[in-house]
Amino acid sequence: GRVVALVPAAGQGTRLGEGVPKAFVTLRGRTLLQWSVDGLLDSGVVDRVIVIVPPDRVAAVGADLPDGVDVVAGGTERTDSVRAGITAAGDADLLLVHDAARALTPPRLIARVVAELRAGREAVVPALPVADTIKSVDLLGVVTGTPERSELRAVQTPQGFDAALLRRAYDTTDVVTTDDAGLVERTGARVRTIAGEPLAFKITTPLDLALARALTDPDTN
Ligand code: CTP
Ligand code: MG
Repeated sequence: GRVVALVPAAGQGTRLGEGVPKAFVTLRGRTLLQWSVDGLLDSGVVDRVIVIVPPDRVAAVGADLPDGVDVVAGGTERTDSVRAGITAAGDADLLLVHDAARALTPPRLIARVVAELRAGREAVVPALPVADTIKSVDLLGVVTGTPERSELRAVQTPQGFDAALLRRAYDTTDVVTTDDAGLVERTGARVRTIAGEPLAFKITTPLDLALARALTDPDTN
């Protein structure tokens, strides 16, 4: 079956605060978007990549894309951007959704997600145990609960899905979320976690970008 990877890259990067949309911040001379696309292509398991970028960047990004990579315009919320990618993906059999911001994701993780889908899983997400205890709070910051840490996981991308299942999840809800698997869970489908990779961390804050720069610095490695 055909594997299409959707790469949401249309966010503003407000928390990073670099003054440019996050996917276009550079790391060792390549944008975070280029790092993420190269990782997908290097995995050897992806047939086509669709990058989803801010509308005013579609032309510039499209002018300089490798074979097998297409670009479409994203929207205000991440769900709007992913929905635009699903539409552009046409008749894919398996869909991956992979944040542009996870620029250092090892290609072997991408290959493992696809292998699980090929083995018959309908929804697969990489996940890591959490280091901190997590609390839920109300609007005033008063603690409302403390879920048992050992039962919690931090989820990463690429998240992989049977394409028909992901289409159905997006067709049957207009909930706004940052987690594609969360929409799939609502359909009643079974979402399986696999072991994530620390290097698949999402570059979100200035501290994350400093870590990514250190990890890719030829002088310190
Ligand atoms: N994303 C997107 N469209 C949006 C919002 C986010 O395609 N409307 C993408 C981002 O470009 C990123 C991924 O979804 O690759 C994960 O989102 P996040 O880390 O929150 O990135 P930003 O939304 O850009 O950052 P911030 O929330 O700090 O503004
Ligand atoms: Mg965001």
